[in-house]
Amino acid sequence: MTLAALLDALWRDYVASTPQAARIHALLAARGETIRNDHVALRTFDAPGLGLAAMARPFEALGWQPREPYRFAAKHLRARYWQHDDPSLPKVFISELVVDELSPAAQQLITALVAQVPAGFGARADLAWSGRPWRVTHAQYAALLAESEYAAWVAAFGFRVNHFTVDVDALTTFPDLTALGAFLVANGETLNDAGGVIKGTPAEYLEQSSTRADAVEVAFEDGHVTIPSCYYEFAKRYRLPSGGVFHGFVPASADRIFESTDVRR
Ligand code: NI
Repeated sequence: MTLAALLDALWRDYVASTPQAARIHALLAARGETIRNDHVALRTFDAPGLGLAAMARPFEALGWQPREPYRFAAKHLRARYWQHDDPSLPKVFISELVVDELSPAAQQLITALVAQVPAGFGARADLAWSGRPWRVTHAQYAALLAESEYAAWVAAFGFRVNHFTVDVDALTTFPDLTALGAFLVANGETLNDAGGVIKGTPAEYLEQSSTRADAVEVAFEDGHVTIPSCYYEFAKRYRLPSGGVFHGFVPASADRIFESTDVRR
C-alpha cells in the first residue's frame, strides 16, 4: 500500500458517506484553491486488537509517528495523533471509546458487536476503511445514542474516517474561518453553529469549525434508517511563543466540538 493509495482510499470512503465534503472540495478547487488536509480523524472502541494501536499500525508502516496522547474525560475517550515527516501530509487523529466507563447495558451491547468481528480483522491493512463488521439493529443504535453519540456512530458505521479537516492556512483566498464559513454558507452549505461556529481560540493556538453532519441511509438489521454520518472540518493553527506552529489538539476545545456535533443530548 502506497501513501497516496491509502489517503485516496480514505477520502473515497469518507465522501461516500459525506457527499458535502466532495461538494465543498470542488467549490474550493473551482476558486483556485489547492486543498491540504490538517488531519484525518478515525474512531474505534478500545476492544482488544481493535483499539488505537491497531488503527495506527497501517499509518505507522507508512511513516506516521506517534505524538501527544490525550484523554477526553467527559466523552470517555482516549486519543492520540500521528504526524508524518512530510508536512504536506495530514496528521492522523485516532480516538478510542473507553468502553468500561459506559453503563453496564452499553458495555454489554458493544461487547456483543465486537464479538462478531472475525479473527484477524484488526490486522487488515484496510482497517481504516473496512466498514462495519457486525450486525446491529436500529434499536441497539438508538440505545447507544442515548448514552454516547460516539458509541452509536461507531456501532452504525464501523471502521472508517469520521472526518477530514481542511488546513485553512494553506488556503490562499480566505484570511480566517469566518471568511471561509461565509463563503460556504453563500454557496448553500450549512455550518454547525451549536455552541458557536468557531471552537477554540488563538490563545489555544487552534481554531476549528465544521459543517453540520450529512445524513445517510444506513442498513440496520431491522430496516433502513437515515441517520447523521459525518461533517467536514476546518482548522486554523497559530504559532507558539517558540515560533513553531502548534500541531496538537486541545482536549477542552475538542470536548466542545464533540458536544456540539452530538445528534442530541
Ligand atoms: Ni478533527
